[in-house]
Amino acid sequence: MPFVVLGVTAGIAAYKAVDLCRRLVDAGVHVAPVVTERATRFVGTATFDALASEPVQSSLWDEVSPIPHTRLGQSADLVVVAPATADLLARFAGGHADDLLTATLLATRATVVVCPAMHTEMWEHPAVQANLGTLRSRGVVVIPPEDGRLAGGDQGSGRLAEPAHIAEVVLELLAHRAAVADRPVVSDLAGRRVVVSAGGTREPIDPVRYLTNRSSGKQGHALALAASDRGATVDLVTTSRTPVDPRIRVHPVETAADLEAAMLALADGADVVVMAAAVADFRPASVASSKLRKTDGIPDLVLEPTPDILAALGRRRTEGQVLVGFAAETEDVVRRAAEKLARKGVDLIVANDVTAPDVGFDHDTNAVTILGADGATTEVALTGKVAVAHAVFDRVVRLLATPE
Ligand code: CTP
Repeated sequence: MPFVVLGVTAGIAAYKAVDLCRRLVDAGVHVAPVVTERATRFVGTATFDALASEPVQSSLWDEVSPIPHTRLGQSADLVVVAPATADLLARFAGGHADDLLTATLLATRATVVVCPAMHTEMWEHPAVQANLGTLRSRGVVVIPPEDGRLAGGDQGSGRLAEPAHIAEVVLELLAHRAAVADRPVVSDLAGRRVVVSAGGTREPIDPVRYLTNRSSGKQGHALALAASDRGATVDLVTTSRTPVDPRIRVHPVETAADLEAAMLALADGADVVVMAAAVADFRPASVASSKLRKTDGIPDLVLEPTPDILAALGRRRTEGQVLVGFAAETEDVVRRAAEKLARKGVDLIVANDVTAPDVGFDHDTNAVTILGADGATTEVALTGKVAVAHAVFDRVVRLLATPE
């Protein structure tokens, strides 16, 4: 039976955690609720006591176990915090351990999911977003809040995601964890150099405007982290500015031209090259040197194609180098991806249907099909982007071990 710690912090949405608790228990999960002392002002512990698999704990000094945070942290298959207040996110990002929930979060190696809920102004505050960036860079899964009615009758972004949705994501993550639980921690990329590109390029129109796409860079960053965890030396060429594990060498870029120059230079002599970036296919043929003004009328934006970086990497790669591309599709996913695999001369292509719920752009989760030039196909059901990254490197490692 999977063991989930359900952290509840002091927000008005704390009552919805009761519904989440019930859904998880009904799905066969052992739920240990950790309700912060302040959260107990919003929802009574008796409610959780009646529904959860074990009594509520709030304090490091409860009698249940001499060291409750290590028991909870080590037993957990997953820790989900719903609702997660701005304060909890700050304390977790800062590594605090001054109450049972933050101590448990530090003491666990399990998957951690946070479900923020707060007023729109707080949600949009750079401090909150920076803390989320830090947590995401460490592999924490964030289920973003929704738009809707907030406490006090306000309307806006910040309402806790629906408990049914949170339960669904948690159950998917648990299912995936069970599937990979036996996977030993291996350094199967030790001694290898891996280059990963990530994020959507920005193609300037004038000094203040640019064309871009919806890529967040999360999948590329997860790939860099997974490769590093497996022992590789990693170069990450990225348009995203989220914090990156210090073991990874970061090369910040903006445009397709920057990305092309960095990738072609770094790919020389690399063992593995992964193009997860969403490169703009077209860019303005000329960039205005000063801001375009409304009073000058609607500009005629003339576009030109950008170079296909992956195809160029495919043409110039050296013996034994493994080349991986991505294909974010909206229809006919596998056929289109297979066509790109052949056209660009890559070993593996990772295809996803970006119209499916929780898949692709800006989500922390993804579901992909990995197609190989060798004809092998791997399906990866909805899971965290780090788990997807490991599934990709599982295939890469096989190719490195058995060069054609
Ligand atoms: N890619 C690239 N350079 C480009 C466009 C795409 O290197 N100018 C790479 C992407 O990083 C990805 C793969 O090619 O790994 C597939 O990208 P995608 O945009 O799906 O393919 P396109 O060839 O642009 O085809 P289309 O957009 O028409 O589907």
